[in-house]
Amino acid sequence: MTRQNAGAAGVAADEGVPTNEVVAGNGGVVAGGDALTVASVSAGFGPLTILHDISFSVHPGEVVVILGANGAGKTTLLRVIAGLVPVRQGEIHLRGVPIHGRPAHLVTRLGIGHVPSGRELFPKMSVADHLFIASRLCAPARREAVRKRVFGMFPILEARAQQLAGTMSGGQQQMVAIARALMTDPKVLLLDEPSTGLAPIAVKAVFETLPRLREQGVSTILAEQSLTLGLSYADRAFVMDHGQIVLSGTTRDLENDRRVVDTYLGR
Ligand SMILES: Nc1ncnc2c1ncn2[C@@H]1O[C@H](COP(=O)(O)OP(=O)(O)OP(=O)(O)O)[C@@H](O)[C@H]1O
Ligand SMILES: [Mg+2]
Repeated sequence: MTRQNAGAAGVAADEGVPTNEVVAGNGGVVAGGDALTVASVSAGFGPLTILHDISFSVHPGEVVVILGANGAGKTTLLRVIAGLVPVRQGEIHLRGVPIHGRPAHLVTRLGIGHVPSGRELFPKMSVADHLFIASRLCAPARREAVRKRVFGMFPILEARAQQLAGTMSGGQQQMVAIARALMTDPKVLLLDEPSTGLAPIAVKAVFETLPRLREQGVSTILAEQSLTLGLSYADRAFVMDHGQIVLSGTTRDLENDRRVVDTYLGR
């Protein structure tokens, strides 16, 4: 896709929704407030209810990990927050602004960045075009500063800007996926199993971006099956099982809680 095409295919009107920039007018944080609040959320597909009465909140700059075995509902939860799966019951607020029931592109504009499971890049599209298209969802006045910040975090992507995403290594592709989400200037980043399929050194490089996001005041919700990885990089953890949050606490609490492995992840 050319840049002209990408621009023409850009974002439609704001539909009366405040942009991230407007919401972030006080520096990005509602005084004393949570970055994200998920309250009694249920969701599912057709006749199936997958998520049951999920409630939690995330503080500004916090890294929270959602742990859970295959099929626990981690991806569905992140997709619900991103506006890709509808909420059936409950509410989701981003810095006090309701985001449930809004289409995904408006949820992005309001400050949720989503790095999907499996990365979902376009193999024949360049790094630059991935990032350029995403930047269309960033408030225009912030685009240049955000672009500089993203390339500051991932200098290799500036050097490889013209490379086709499909020709990059797995670790580099994960960086493109994260950078694409960051180009929208999120206040909350949803990271769905970024370690999948990566060599240990690439996993380390990807996870070392988390403290840098924290410094910038971006909150991260990480879905992860690996207990060791999840607990090493997060401040707090939730364990999901059959679409419910069954345990929560600081990562230190959960490190010492045998139920995490024995009951929920050790199957
Ligand atoms: N589009 C869909 N239609 C029907 N059921 C779905 C759909 N997407 C997910 N599910 C079901 O929802 C449940 C939770 O799946 P989900 O992908 O959220 O789990 P997960 O915790 O992310 O698992 P994994 O660790 O394997 O990625 C599973 O039973 C799955 O089969
Ligand atoms: Mg998943």
